[in-house]
Amino acid sequence: MVCFRLFPVPGSGLVLVCLVLGAVRSYALELNLTDSGKATCLYAKWQMNFTVRYETTNKTYNTVTISDRGTVTYNGSICGDDQNGPKIAVQFGPGFSWIANFSKAASTYSIDSISFSYNTGDNTTFPDAEDKGILTVDELLAIKIPLNDLFRCNSLSTLEKNDVVQHYWDVLVQAFVQNGTVSTNEFLCDEDKTSTVAPTIHTTVPSPTTTPTPKEKPEAGTYSVNNGNDTCLLATMGLQLNITQDKVASVININPNTTHSTGSCRSHTALLRLNSSTIKYLDFVFAVKNENRFYLKEVNVSMYLVNGSVFSIANNNLSYWDAPLGSSYMCNKEQTVSVSRAFQINTFDLRVQPFNVTQGKYSTAQECSLDDDTILIPIIVGAGLSGLIIVIVIAYVIGRRKSYAGYQTL
Ligand SMILES: *[C@@H]1O[C@H](CO)[C@@H](O)[C@H](O)[C@H]1NC(C)=O
Ligand SMILES: *[C@@H]1O[C@H](CO)[C@@H](O)[C@H](O)[C@H]1NC(C)=O
Ligand SMILES: *[C@@H]1O[C@H](CO)[C@@H](O)[C@H](O)[C@H]1NC(C)=O
Ligand SMILES: *[C@@H]1O[C@H](CO)[C@@H](O)[C@H](O)[C@H]1NC(C)=O
Ligand SMILES: *[C@@H]1O[C@H](CO)[C@@H](O)[C@H](O)[C@H]1NC(C)=O
Ligand SMILES: *[C@@H]1O[C@H](CO)[C@@H](O)[C@H](O)[C@H]1NC(C)=O
Ligand SMILES: *[C@@H]1O[C@H](CO)[C@@H](O)[C@H](O)[C@H]1NC(C)=O
Ligand SMILES: *[C@@H]1O[C@H](CO)[C@@H](O)[C@H](O)[C@H]1NC(C)=O
Ligand SMILES: *[C@@H]1O[C@H](CO)[C@@H](O)[C@H](O)[C@H]1NC(C)=O
Ligand SMILES: *[C@@H]1O[C@H](CO)[C@@H](O)[C@H](O)[C@H]1NC(C)=O
Ligand SMILES: *[C@@H]1O[C@H](CO)[C@@H](O)[C@H](O)[C@H]1NC(C)=O
Ligand SMILES: *[C@@H]1O[C@H](CO)[C@@H](O)[C@H](O)[C@H]1NC(C)=O
Repeated sequence: MVCFRLFPVPGSGLVLVCLVLGAVRSYALELNLTDSGKATCLYAKWQMNFTVRYETTNKTYNTVTISDRGTVTYNGSICGDDQNGPKIAVQFGPGFSWIANFSKAASTYSIDSISFSYNTGDNTTFPDAEDKGILTVDELLAIKIPLNDLFRCNSLSTLEKNDVVQHYWDVLVQAFVQNGTVSTNEFLCDEDKTSTVAPTIHTTVPSPTTTPTPKEKPEAGTYSVNNGNDTCLLATMGLQLNITQDKVASVININPNTTHSTGSCRSHTALLRLNSSTIKYLDFVFAVKNENRFYLKEVNVSMYLVNGSVFSIANNNLSYWDAPLGSSYMCNKEQTVSVSRAFQINTFDLRVQPFNVTQGKYSTAQECSLDDDTILIPIIVGAGLSGLIIVIVIAYVIGRRKSYAGYQTL
C-alpha cells in the first residue's frame, strides 16, 4: 500500500489518500476523511472502471475503457454538515470527475447517488469525438445501510446508463462514522449475501482474482531459505489462516504464488518468514530439543486489516511438527497449529525440514500419526501373534495338567 499524499480539503480536515496496487492496471481507491478534530468521519475503499461509448467524426462509435486513472485528487469530499450530506468527490485523469452523495435517516444512512463526468474534448482519451464537451451520467442508488455499519460489496456491481457502463467491486464504505472508529459490523450487499463465496477476511488485497475462497483447500507452496548458495530449510505446505475477532472467524488461504519467503538458519534455531501484500510477516521458528529432535516452537504473525489496523500475535511456547534431526516432518492430512484463541493455522500436505537439508532435497520423512494408516498393520499382526502365544501357553498348561492328572490315576 502506498500512501503518498496528504493534502487539505477545504471545509474539513486532512485527507489521507492511499493507492493500493491491484490487479493489472486497476487501483483501489481509498479515502479516509477526517473532521476538524482529526477523527475519521467517512471511510471508503473501492475499485471501479468505466467503459464509455462515443460517436466519432466519421459517424461510427468508439468504446474506451477508463481504468488507469493517473493522478487522483479528492477535492470536494466532505464529512457533511447540517445543510449538506457527506460526499466523496474524486478527480482523475484528464477531466474525469466522480461524486457519491450520502444522506442520513433515523437509523440508517444511504448512498443516494453517483455521478460521473467525462470530457470528450480530451482528444487523447476520446480521439475523433464528434461532439466535444463535458458529459455527466447520474445514477440514483438509494442503498440503505444501518447507521454505524460498514457497507461491504466484494461482488461486481454494474451500472449502465446512456453511453457509460460503470463497474464497481471490492467496495467498503462507511459514512457518518461514529466516534472516529470505522465499524467492525459489516452490512453486506445482496450480491455478497447470495454468493456462495464466504465473506473474505479484511484484507488489503483489492484484486477480485486474489480473493481467497476460504472453504477450499489451500494450494500447497514450496518455501525455502538459503544459507549462502545452499538451501538450509525446506517447507512445502498449503496454509489457511483462521483469525477470530469479535467472535467472527475469518478464514484466508495463502496463495503461494504471491507469497515471498525468507529466513535464517542457525545450528539450534531456524526461521521461515513468509510475507505478502496482506501478511506483513508470518514467522515459523523451529528449535532443537534433546539434541536429536526438532519441532515448531514459535509462530509470530502480523497482518494488515482493511480498516488500517494491524493484527499481530505471537506464541513461543508451541510444540508441533516434532521429528528427528536429519529427517523431515510430513503430514498430508489437515492439521491445526493453534497459536492462540484468535489465531489458528490449518496446514495441508505439509512437509518441513528446518535443519540438515542436504543438496536442496528433503531427507526421509517422519509421518504424523494422522497419516499413519500403516501403523495399524503391525498392531493387527502383533495382536494376532500375542493371541496365538496365549493360545499356545493355555494349551501347554492344560496339556501338562492332563498328563499330571493321568499320571496320578495310574
Ligand atoms: C473492468 O472491471 C471489470 C470487473 O473487474 C472487469 O471484468 C473488466 O475486465 C474491467 N475492464 C477493464 C478494461 O479493465
Ligand atoms: C485540489 O485542491 C488542491 C489544493 O486545494 C489544488 O492544488 C488542486 O489544483 C485541486 N485539484 C483539482 C482537480 O481541482
Ligand atoms: C449531491 O449533493 C449535492 C449537494 O450536496 C447536490 O448539489 C447534487 O445535486 C447531488 N447530486 C446528485 C446526483 O443527487
Ligand atoms: C488534440 O488537440 C490538439 C489541439 O486541441 C491538437 O494539437 C492535437 O493534434 C490533437 N491530437 C490528436 C491526437 O488529435
Ligand atoms: C460513541 O461514544 C459515546 C460516548 O462516549 C457512546 O455513548 C456511544 O455508544 C459511542 N458509539 C459507538 C458507536 O461506539
Ligand atoms: C556460491 O557459488 C559461487 C559460484 O558457483 C561461488 O563463486 C561462491 O564462492 C559460492 N559461495 C559460497 C558461500 O559457497
Ligand atoms: C476458525 O476458528 C474458529 C474459532 O476457533 C472455529 O470455530 C472454526 O471452526 C475455525 N474454522 C476453520 C475453517 O478452521
Ligand atoms: C499459481 O500459479 C500456478 C501456475 O502459474 C497456477 O496454476 C495456479 O492456479 C496459481 N494459483 C493461484 C492460487 O493463483
Ligand atoms: C516481502 O518482504 C521483502 C523484504 O523483506 C520485500 O522485498 C518483498 O517485496 C515482500 N513481498 C511481498 C509479496 O510483499
Ligand atoms: C483514518 O485517519 C485517522 C486519523 O489520521 C486514523 O486515526 C485512523 O486510524 C484512519 N483510519 C483508517 C481506516 O485508515
Ligand atoms: C479494525 O478492526 C478490528 C476488528 O475487525 C478492531 O479490533 C480494530 O480496533 C479496528 N481498528 C480500527 C483502527 O478501527
Ligand atoms: C515477533 O516479531 C516481531 C518483529 O520481528 C518482533 O519485534 C517481536 O518481538 C516478535 N515477538 C515474539 C514474541 O517473538
